Amino acid sequence: MARKPFLHVVVCAAGVAADVSKLITCAQERDWEVGVVATPAAMNGFFDTAAVETLTGRPIRSAWRTPGEPSPFPAPDAVVVAPATFNTVNKWAAGIADTLALGTLCEAAGLGVPIAVLPCVAGALAAHPAYRDSLTRLRGMGVRFGDPYAGGAEPDGGRPDFGWERALDLLRRD
Ligand SMILES: Cc1cc2nc3c(=O)[nH]c(=O)nc-3n(C[C@H](O)[C@H](O)[C@H](O)COP(=O)(O)O)c2cc1C
Repeated sequence: MARKPFLHVVVCAAGVAADVSKLITCAQERDWEVGVVATPAAMNGFFDTAAVETLTGRPIRSAWRTPGEPSPFPAPDAVVVAPATFNTVNKWAAGIADTLALGTLCEAAGLGVPIAVLPCVAGALAAHPAYRDSLTRLRGMGVRFGDPYAGGAEPDGGRPDFGWERALDLLRRD
């Protein structure tokens, strides 16, 4: 039987990461096999790691493997970064690979696989010129971005829907 395409989901330390299971479920419904790579900061209480491991049937990767250890994930057929933080977007664009999540992102474009990003960055941070430059640089590498999402509360106290499925729609875009 042909294997399902493998999707790397990179999770950063933004509050909305608490709902990342929605993205995983949506991807699985669209016939992706999913492995999660989280930043070390995201592993620090931003989402339910046990629930995500149960859902994907695989350990979450966050630390580098040791030299003799085989890679626990197949090579990606596509990569999604959701939520993407200000910090990770800027480090990725600068070519910094000091975490497994950043290393995964830095090599993804070179692998030629589609990459979709859903940023969650407050307006004040998004106004920083370094962030604007990072978006320009990553777009120039073929990375696909969802519309800006600031994550702020609405007048009724709720938050706008993050729209996790947007990431999967971006992967399908020609
Ligand atoms: C509760 C909480 C929510 C946060 N939400 C965001 C966010 O939505 N977007 C963002 O860019 N940073 C957010 N941050 C700050 C990041 O966690 C911080 O910049 C961190 O260094 C990001 O690390 P990472 O990019 O490696 O995941 C938040 C921090 C906390 C404590």
